[in-house]
Amino acid sequence: MPNFTRDNAIEIWKKYNTDNALLKHAIAVGAAMKYFAKKYNGDENEWEYVGILHDLDYGQFPNEHCIKVKELLEKENVDDYIIRAIQSHGYGQCTDIKPETDMERILFAVDELTGLIVACALVRPSKSLDDLEYKSVKKKYKDKAFASGVDRSIIENGCKMLNIELEEFTKETILALKPFGKEIGLL
Ligand SMILES: [Fe+2]
Ligand SMILES: [Fe+2]
Repeated sequence: MPNFTRDNAIEIWKKYNTDNALLKHAIAVGAAMKYFAKKYNGDENEWEYVGILHDLDYGQFPNEHCIKVKELLEKENVDDYIIRAIQSHGYGQCTDIKPETDMERILFAVDELTGLIVACALVRPSKSLDDLEYKSVKKKYKDKAFASGVDRSIIENGCKMLNIELEEFTKETILALKPFGKEIGLL
């Protein structure tokens, strides 16, 4: 679809949302999706689009998260398989739509992991991703009190679905986010 672009995704996102913190999360997830699209031979624009729009309904309909999004995206004439991919990120929490494609599994896994990585960068003196290393993310990952809203079990389930080691996946996701540091509110 020619309108699977980040600009189009951000435009749709802004129709339904105003929370800047949520926008930064959307952009971070989009960045990770774009990166992994290259690895999994996916369409970079399409995967980034899915990442940016994955929480589209969360701002206005937190109690219908991953459900209401179907109606919103249908109004925007978004293809069914994209809607399905977005709904599947809530598997086991707010939907029973299981991530089945690589795109869906990556989305499921990076949603929480990007949150943890950004939180790790924010507590650094530099407040930057530039000097963030895997070992400090690993330490914080094990510290359950740190960024306690990040559900580590979801990340681990995602890695299992993808048949990838958590260490490798975390290292790759750090790399994915680095070029987007400024846009996601880091120095
Ligand atoms: Fe979500
Ligand atoms: Fe999310």
